[in-house]
Amino acid sequence: MLNLDLSNVTPFLAAGWRTGEEKSLKQAHDKLLHGTGAGSDFLGWVNLPADYDKEEFARIQKAAEKIRSDSQALVVIGIGGSYLGARAVIETLTSNNYNLTRKGTPAIYFAGNGLSADALNEVIEQVRDVDWSINVISKSGTTTEPAVAFRIFKKLLEDKYGKEGAKGRIYATTDAKRGALKGLADKEGYEEFVVPDAVGGRYSVLTAVGLLPIAAAGIDIEALMAGAREEMDLLQKPGMDNPAWQYAAARHALYESGKKVEILAAYEPAFRFFGEWWKQLFGETEGKEGKALFPASVEFTADLHSMGQYIQQGERLMVETVVRFDKARTKVSIPDDPENVDGLNFLSGKGLDFVAEQALRGVILAHVDGGVPNILLTVPARDERCLGALIYFFEFACGLSGYLLGVNPFDQPGVEAYKNNMYALLGKPGYESQRKELEKRLEQ
Ligand code: PA5
Repeated sequence: MLNLDLSNVTPFLAAGWRTGEEKSLKQAHDKLLHGTGAGSDFLGWVNLPADYDKEEFARIQKAAEKIRSDSQALVVIGIGGSYLGARAVIETLTSNNYNLTRKGTPAIYFAGNGLSADALNEVIEQVRDVDWSINVISKSGTTTEPAVAFRIFKKLLEDKYGKEGAKGRIYATTDAKRGALKGLADKEGYEEFVVPDAVGGRYSVLTAVGLLPIAAAGIDIEALMAGAREEMDLLQKPGMDNPAWQYAAARHALYESGKKVEILAAYEPAFRFFGEWWKQLFGETEGKEGKALFPASVEFTADLHSMGQYIQQGERLMVETVVRFDKARTKVSIPDDPENVDGLNFLSGKGLDFVAEQALRGVILAHVDGGVPNILLTVPARDERCLGALIYFFEFACGLSGYLLGVNPFDQPGVEAYKNNMYALLGKPGYESQRKELEKRLEQ
């Protein structure tokens, strides 16, 4: 369903680059399918589009229906892998202005993804006078940002509806057995959804983590899963004609040739948070042991008027991956103007999608001429089925890429460093000696 065009990569690599990657790809593919590589405890996402919990899936749909019927707003509390996937899918399939453009579905506010008091107060202001619910999402159940936000929003909800009333409006997505959130959800009797043990945060969008908020926004999660399933069936077949193999091979060969940054670009503003999700996926999977392409994202054509200069002529360290949606959902035709003062009558009667397509074609040529290899990924439509496929495509390619790079694709040890320092500085019990040491360093 997706079409990968590497014709603008080949000129940047030595002849036979594909063959050079084939043996390692075969090994990486086996590691993903048979669990023989590092991080094999976290491969639950590989067969997820087929092997998901159908009973829970039906409960997700029911809960989403209830939220749509009794809430004008849903506060989704989570960070990182417990946040980005839902926002990416909701915005890509609706609009980056979802809360303004929604029709009959609740407004969705994301909270607990930072520590800004102003941002949190803004959400409080939005929900204060409407009926609302909470979906709190945390696999560990102990992450500071969502835990603090949940404490605050839970109190607000209980103040409004009473403890019993609030209970029926809180949905907790967390580990099946352990963690502070699991304990709290059991104690209070919230409806619970599970983050499967074998699925890490950045691969969890097709579990309840992503699916409940996505369904609450009125998106067809069955079609999303069906698209992922189609792509899964395709990508699990080994071979150099496998598009995930090709994408992983191209990225790896370009990295080995000295490239340092991969920019994900799209011409749809609604795609912005998909870029954020993609950055976490590749950044956390590969960015370790001093290795990996740095994942960045841009929105075209807007960023051509800012980052475009660097991409065209700055340091030659980039690879560009463009996600192109084949069909615009709506049409805008450029009107004729008899006075033609702006000189645009050569575009009269043309659609904006036609203009965008010529921009895309021209940009690719310019960037390739400027020394930026281009990977073009065409997605037939901005709909559930295609987005499900795109998610699985990037996940599978990312797993392969991690193994090609020789890292454990499924851990994230680097995320702990800041957390430990923050706990110590906040005075968390157990961190006393670390606190003294850090305060001393900060005084110098
Ligand atoms: O990928 C990851 O592990 C992180 O981004 C986590 O998803 C993030 O830190 C949130 O963790 P949790 O769901 O445990 O609150």
